[in-house]
Amino acid sequence: MGLTSDPNFQNLEKWYKSNAASLNMRQMFEADKNRFQNLSLTLKTDEGDILLDYSKNLINEEVMKMLVELAKSRGVEASRDKMFSGEKINFTEGRAVLHVALRNRSNTPINMDGKDVMPEVNQVLEKMKGFCHKVRSGEWKGYTGKSITDVVNVGIGGSDLGPLMVTEALKPYSKGGPRVWFVSNIDGTHVAKTLAELNAETTLFIIASKTFTTQETITNAESAKEWFLQAAKDVSSQINFIAFSVFQPKVKDFGIDPENMFEFWDWVGGRYSLWSAIGLSIALHIGYENFEKLLAGAHWMQFNASLNRIKHKPLSLRLWQDTHFRTAPVDQNAPMLLALLGIWYINFFQAETHCLLPYDQYMHRFAAYFQQGDMESNGKYITTNGNRVNYHTGPIVWGEPGTNGQHAFYQLIHQGTCMVPADFLIPAQSQHPIRSNLHHKILVANFLAQMEALMKGKTTEEAKKELEAGGLSGDKLEKILPHKVFQGNKPTNSIIFKKLSPYTLGVLIAMYEHKIFIQGVMWEINSFDQWGVELGKQLAKKIEPELQDSTEVTSHDSSTNGLINFLKKNFA
Ligand code: F6P
Repeated sequence: MGLTSDPNFQNLEKWYKSNAASLNMRQMFEADKNRFQNLSLTLKTDEGDILLDYSKNLINEEVMKMLVELAKSRGVEASRDKMFSGEKINFTEGRAVLHVALRNRSNTPINMDGKDVMPEVNQVLEKMKGFCHKVRSGEWKGYTGKSITDVVNVGIGGSDLGPLMVTEALKPYSKGGPRVWFVSNIDGTHVAKTLAELNAETTLFIIASKTFTTQETITNAESAKEWFLQAAKDVSSQINFIAFSVFQPKVKDFGIDPENMFEFWDWVGGRYSLWSAIGLSIALHIGYENFEKLLAGAHWMQFNASLNRIKHKPLSLRLWQDTHFRTAPVDQNAPMLLALLGIWYINFFQAETHCLLPYDQYMHRFAAYFQQGDMESNGKYITTNGNRVNYHTGPIVWGEPGTNGQHAFYQLIHQGTCMVPADFLIPAQSQHPIRSNLHHKILVANFLAQMEALMKGKTTEEAKKELEAGGLSGDKLEKILPHKVFQGNKPTNSIIFKKLSPYTLGVLIAMYEHKIFIQGVMWEINSFDQWGVELGKQLAKKIEPELQDSTEVTSHDSSTNGLINFLKKNFA
C-alpha cells in the first residue's frame, strides 16, 4: 500500500484539513503548563545529557499519536532491523547498508551474506590506529626523512564533506596532530591555492575515493602528484601518498603502494563513510583515541542509548536502559521523532525545506554536511515499487551557524511566505569562554530568543503598544504597524548538549543519519543510491572533448551550443 493510501496517512490528512489551521503554539503553551515536559526528551549519554525539545512544533498529543501510528504502519521498525541485519536494502545497487557496523563498539557480530563483517572492520581500524600513531609521533617520514606536518585529503562528496565537517567541529581536540587540508573542487583554484601553502617534504596526501574513478578526485590527485614529483623527482619516493578505496587495482595503477591503502567496502555509502577509513584525516588530526570516541558516540545512539522521557520517568528507567534507535519505542526515539516531525511538515503542510542552525562556530560545516546526507539520500521521486510518488520527499537542507544566519536569512523565516521548519543546536559550554563567558551568554540568549520569537510572534496589539510607547500615533502608526507584526507559530526543534566533543558529535551525526533513513522508509524510497548525480557526469564527459579546439559546436540544444561557443571564443 502506498503512503497516501495508508489509512493512518488519510486520518492525518483529514485531521490536518479540519484542525491544522487552529493549531496555535502560543495558546497551546498557555493551555498546557506541561507541554515542554510532555514534548521533550533527555538522552542520557556517557558524556552528559542531550536535551531534545520538540514542544515548539505545530503538534499536539493527538497528532503525535497519529504520526507514530503512521510510522508503525509504514514498517519503520522492521526496516531498521533489516538494515542492522545486513539485508541488501540498497536494492538498486544490490548492497547492504552497514555503516552502523563501522561504529559497532560492542563488537556483536553483524552478518552480511552469512559472514560477520566485524573482523574486517576491526582490522582496518587497527591499521588506522597504527598509522595514526606513526604519523602523529613523527615516526612516519616523508621522502626526505622529515616528519609530516600537513595532511591533504583529496576527495569529494562523501569522501570530503564528513572529514571536513568533523575536523572543523573538533579543532579544539587537534593538539599534536598535523594540519589538515581538503581539496575537492575540480576548479584548479582549489588544488593550486592549497599546494601553494605546502611543502612537499612534509605533506601527506590522502586520495579518498570509494570508486577511485571520480573525475574531480582523480584529476586533483594527478595534479597533486605532478606537483609532488616536481619536488621529489623520484616516483619511488611516493610514500607521501596513501589511499582509501574499495578497488585496490586502481590504487596500484595510480602508483600508490597497496600497503598504503586502507580498504573499505561497498556496503558503506559515500555519505555515510566518515566512520570508515575515509575518516583517517579526522583520526590524524584529533588522534585515534578521539576518533574512537566519535565512533562511541554514534554507537551510543544506535545501540546503547538510555533515555529519560520526563513525562514517563518511572517507566523509562527500566525500559530504555540499553538501546535507543534500535529498541526505543517510536514515540521515545529521537531520530524517529525528528523524522516524523519532518513528515508532518513536508507531507501535510507542504513544507519544502529544512534548516539546520548550529549555534557553535566549530559546527560551521554541519548543515553543508547534511545537505549531502539528506538531499542525496532522499531527493528522489521513484518508490521502491518503481512508481512515481504523489507526495513530497526530501527537503532542501541548508543553514549557517548562529548568529550569522540571523543577520542574513532569518527575516524570511520570521516574515516570509514559506514555511521553514528549523533545528537549533547549541552546547551549554563554550570552547572559548572568553571575557567571563560573555560571548557565550549572548550566543545562548540569541539561540533562545530566536525560537521564542518564531513560536510566539508579535500580535497587532503588542506591536501597537510598543509603537505607542515609542511616541508614534495616528497615520504614521497605522502605516508602519503591519510591518511590525510577527505571525509566529513557526516550528523549531532545539537540541542542547553539554559541550561539543568527539563523542557528542558522534551522537548527533548518527541521530540525523537515522532520521534521514526513517524518512526514506516512510516515503518508500531507497535512501542509499544516488543515480540522480549520474546524468550530469555523463554529459560532462561528452562536452569535455568538444572544448578542446575552436570549432563551432552545433550538436546540442541552441542554449548549450550558444554557451559552449561563447566560452570557446573567450578561452583565449
Ligand atoms: O556525488 C556522487 C558521489 O557518488 C557521492 O555519493 C560520493 O560521496 C561522491 O560521489 C564521491 O565518490 P567517490 O568516493 O567514489 O570518489
